Amino acid sequence: MQVKIEKLDHFGRGITYVNQKICFVAKALPNEIVKIKVTKETKKYIEAEIEEWVTISSYRIPEVCPYAKICGGCDLEHLEYKKENEWKREKVKELLAKFSQIEKVEVKEIKYLSPYHYRNKVTLHGAKNRVGYYQPKSKNLVPIDTCLLLNQKINELLPKMKRLARENKVQEIMIRTSNDEKESLIKISGDKPKSLIDMKDITGIFFQEEQLQGKEEIISTIGKYQYYLSIESFFQVNQELTEMLYEEVLNEVKKVKPKKVLDLYCGTGTIGIYISSEAEEVIGIDSCSSSIKNANHNKKLNQVKNIQFINNKVENVIDQFQQDTDLIIVDPPRKGLDKKTLRHIIRIAPKYLIYISCDPVTLARDLKELKETYQTKIVTPFNMFPRTYHVECVSVLVHN
Ligand SMILES: C[S@@+](CC[C@H](N)C(=O)[O-])C[C@H]1O[C@@H](n2cnc3c(N)ncnc32)[C@H](O)[C@@H]1O
Repeated sequence: MQVKIEKLDHFGRGITYVNQKICFVAKALPNEIVKIKVTKETKKYIEAEIEEWVTISSYRIPEVCPYAKICGGCDLEHLEYKKENEWKREKVKELLAKFSQIEKVEVKEIKYLSPYHYRNKVTLHGAKNRVGYYQPKSKNLVPIDTCLLLNQKINELLPKMKRLARENKVQEIMIRTSNDEKESLIKISGDKPKSLIDMKDITGIFFQEEQLQGKEEIISTIGKYQYYLSIESFFQVNQELTEMLYEEVLNEVKKVKPKKVLDLYCGTGTIGIYISSEAEEVIGIDSCSSSIKNANHNKKLNQVKNIQFINNKVENVIDQFQQDTDLIIVDPPRKGLDKKTLRHIIRIAPKYLIYISCDPVTLARDLKELKETYQTKIVTPFNMFPRTYHVECVSVLVHN
């Protein structure tokens, strides 16, 4: 069957229509005419693969990854990077218009850096004495020797991980490095490794929750600050673009000149510390105990006196805050803000709200909930996850 691709959906798949039913074509680009093979059909939609190209988009580029055809980790490796960035900005605009129902939001130009070797963290899966990635929505393992998204240090450690999986039954290996790639932590799950791992080039090794060798924390630098982080803590994965994102937040905070700031979902305290010189008092809240342990170390490491951290769920403690907060920064996980937190943000009524989001759909939903009370001034997209469909946004809201 021959079809013409109209546009990309929000997951980077080509959209066309077959007998008026929407059809998602993996790896197809707008305006391409392709012959397709249907792989799934439901009452509502069809999924298909390309069998042959009749016309090829001028924005299509050869995939450089050796696993591109089988891995599925990169949704957009076949698209020019410039076009990927344009598409991500358009996607943010479209999703905000559709789900936030806010009349006019200024979506600024997307910020981006290198498309490859940006990740400071990876989770590998193990099967049959090999390690690699799972194909999307399956447990089919694609063993890898290298990955273009990972930084050089992680790629250098991969042969060691392959050896480890050959000699032991490994379920999962998480590798995390410092942003300067000098330090690294590794966490193994599955069977306990029979022999010690060669520690050269590795700062700390964990088997599940147990520390087997080396140190518990590594230090990463963002801008002029240094941050301790443990294997379990959240830390932004794009080792270069994070500084640009934090600078964007800092510039907004400078305009606000706040006295009291709440940094909700603060992780290892990175943003709160980054903006602490611009406020009288900062309070960070996160539910992950290892992140808060790191955050308290980070406070000392950076000699920041005006910040405190609370280890709890935001929704458990948000009702304790009064209306003396001038700025709330939120950086929730993909599911966005829960109803109770939204209600209390509205009650606390800070003059400014900065919302950092890794999912424009839940961002738009939450902006809609806030729109009676807050005006969304600017949304800036950041391409934190190049070659995938994901995009991060920083939104600035002002109380009506
Ligand atoms: C996207 S990360 C943001 C971390 C931090 N702002 C940064 O830039 O590194 C989201 C954080 O929310 C935390 N978290 C998830 N659910 C939470 C909840 N209900 N209450 C508090 N923290 C939560 C996670 O532990 C994680 O650190």
